[in-house]
Amino acid sequence: MALHRKLSEQLVVLLHLIIGVQLVLAAPQPNDPSCNRICGSVNIPYPFGTSEGCYLDKSFLIKCNNSFQPPKPFLAVDNIEVLNISTDDGELRVSNLVFRSCEWWPVYDNQPSLRRISALLSLSNFSISLEKNSIFAVGCNFFAYISGWQGQHYTFMSGCTSVCGKSTGLVNGSCSGLGCCHSAIPENATKYNLTVQSIYTNGSSRTSGQSCGLGFIGETQAYTFSTLDFENLMNRETVPLLLDWAIANKKCEDAQKNWSSYLCKAANSNCSEPNALGYICKCPEGYQGNPYILDGKDGSCQDIDECKDHPNPCNANATCINTNGSYQCTCLEGYKGDGRMPPGTGCSKKPGQSKIIINIALGISISLLILLVGTLWVYWVMQRRKLIKLKEKFFQQNGGLILQRQLLNHKEYVESAKIFSAKELGKATNNYDKSRVLGQGGFGTVYKGILSDDKVVAIKKSNVVDQSQIEQFINEVVVLTKINHKNVVKLLGCCLETEVPLLVYEFITNGTLFDHIHDKNLSSSLSWEKRLKVASETAGALAYIHFETSMSIIHRDVKTTNILMDDNHTAKVSDFGASRLVPLDHTRLTTVVQGTLGYLDPKYFHTSQLTEKSDVYSFGVVIAELLTGEKALSMDRPEAERNLAMYFVTAMKEDRLLQIIDDRILIEGNIEEIKEVANIAKKCLKVRGEDRPSMKQVTKELEGLRLLEKHSLKKVDSNIQQITKHLPYASTHALGIDVDVGSSSMSTIVADDSMKNQILKPTDNDAR
Ligand SMILES: *[C@@H]1O[C@H](CO)[C@@H](O)[C@H](O)[C@H]1NC(C)=O
Ligand SMILES: *[C@@H]1O[C@H](CO)[C@@H](O)[C@H](O)[C@H]1NC(C)=O
Repeated sequence: MALHRKLSEQLVVLLHLIIGVQLVLAAPQPNDPSCNRICGSVNIPYPFGTSEGCYLDKSFLIKCNNSFQPPKPFLAVDNIEVLNISTDDGELRVSNLVFRSCEWWPVYDNQPSLRRISALLSLSNFSISLEKNSIFAVGCNFFAYISGWQGQHYTFMSGCTSVCGKSTGLVNGSCSGLGCCHSAIPENATKYNLTVQSIYTNGSSRTSGQSCGLGFIGETQAYTFSTLDFENLMNRETVPLLLDWAIANKKCEDAQKNWSSYLCKAANSNCSEPNALGYICKCPEGYQGNPYILDGKDGSCQDIDECKDHPNPCNANATCINTNGSYQCTCLEGYKGDGRMPPGTGCSKKPGQSKIIINIALGISISLLILLVGTLWVYWVMQRRKLIKLKEKFFQQNGGLILQRQLLNHKEYVESAKIFSAKELGKATNNYDKSRVLGQGGFGTVYKGILSDDKVVAIKKSNVVDQSQIEQFINEVVVLTKINHKNVVKLLGCCLETEVPLLVYEFITNGTLFDHIHDKNLSSSLSWEKRLKVASETAGALAYIHFETSMSIIHRDVKTTNILMDDNHTAKVSDFGASRLVPLDHTRLTTVVQGTLGYLDPKYFHTSQLTEKSDVYSFGVVIAELLTGEKALSMDRPEAERNLAMYFVTAMKEDRLLQIIDDRILIEGNIEEIKEVANIAKKCLKVRGEDRPSMKQVTKELEGLRLLEKHSLKKVDSNIQQITKHLPYASTHALGIDVDVGSSSMSTIVADDSMKNQILKPTDNDAR
């Protein structure tokens, strides 16, 4: 077809004008404030300019046509509208014409109509950017092509055909053949001829009417095909076109050799070769301004303070520090990263020191806590062990082992005795509160205790930790566990865990017989009948322990303070602390003398020979006390009468009995009965043990009298008139007991200090 050879309308312009000539004389002032650097919305930076002295040379002259609104800048040499100018990469965006070719259907003579529009594009000083521009054809069955010329020589042709078989095939955004096509611009040309032409295709069925196609050379990225544009483009006049420019057709290296003509002299100005045309000047990275203006002058390349940019180039968790040509982002404490906005890594929390410190602190605290708890636990365990050891020590010290052995030896009795814990008894006595004290004596203190099952008990607590007393204590436990008699105070159990041993008894509510006899208020209610009853019951209890138990028990401390009274005036013999177990085949036992002055058997006192007859003697004193209402030993009486037993026996011998009998029972009592009882007492008080009756006999006689008494209650008053009283006289010397009782105490233990140590011997050895 060789269409490219038929170039009808041509506008031939030289493509390259070698910029070899420098205007040395009127050197342009890039920063001259009188220069107008804006035309409409377009900046006109040096080397471009709109007036004399404001541009580098004629090729950079911009004419600002004010007849447009807003005004439009034109490249003065080629009269091409300028859209904008970039000094950094040597690019110039200009406005290029769109060529249109239209056809009318039907075609005459059925001949294809080959209508063609060609335009020659030529530039004086600048060149079309081959990289960034393309040749476009838009329309149905249109062909756009470009022919390149170098001088008079045709060099090449390049183009594309846009077809549309069916209009529905058009695709938005795609310019690859359907309704739109584009093609690269060939190199090595100084002038271009663009042709747009419809192509006839055999058999193509076209409706009658106008059909238009477009052809243009334009910026590849600036045009995006759309089916809507397909219609609109028909009216489009221009498209953007990118041109390359340079200030001189030299390499940077060569340009710097001729310093006077070199334009990038400023310190902050770099030489750059953006395209094949030559070099330009450029502000370094991070600087902005005009690289053709010398340093220090307004508008020269200045460092950009990126930190003042909006948005800040650094992450929110970073501090921004501006540097020459750049900036630094430093992440805050506890963050890591380059601190820059994407594509930088920004700032992210590091498992940082704070966390480590917290972890360390946490670790230390936990360790300390564990250590503390551990220490406390060890301390607690040690304290507990100490306590247990102490309890064990007390248990041993308190004769726990002896007791266990004793209890084991007499299993049949053990059921009734219980071993209480120290805690249990502390609770029962409200920690041995003073208000709970029932009585106090040389032996210790008796507390009232209330057990967890509301049972009221008496708890006897020894005063001193004395091995001799412990011996006694164990003894009492062993003895009492063997006794089950209604007139003997019942031992419920004991506790060995405390420093001093504790005994738990049944609680007897009504005080001692001593109180009932010698307390004026109580004695008035202690009738003859009751006295007889007490005597009889006590005798029964003693007879029981002497004869009825598996081993004979000698109480050794029978006295009115050891006979307790309950609410029914029932006698309860208590305090077996001094008691001894005597095997039945042994009639005699040598022991340390023990007992209470006034009740003590003088025979035993002198011989240390212990038999149950010692208890009989003591019981005789108790009867005498019941009959006379006098204390067993009284400093208030004349010396000869201090010992009741002596006094009583003497009075009997001298037939002065009625004179010493308590007035109250004389009034109500049967004289015969009184005399009978007095006789029993007299027999009990015989100096020789063998002469005394056994408790069995005594019990029998007393019980007999009681039966009699019940029948003869009515004949009481006839005796009252016979009573005359005489002052009693008696000599203690008669019994050989010569004790200097200077102190006020009269109910004390006989055993003196010199004897005490002997009692440490185990019970078993004692009972040889
Ligand atoms: C400005 O443009 C108009 C319209 O294209 C034209 O007629 C006129 O000559 C131009 N003026 C200058 C000073 O070039
Ligand atoms: C050129 O002008 C266009 C439109 O006016 C604008 O979008 C573009 O950012 C400009 N380019 C430069 C490099 O100034």
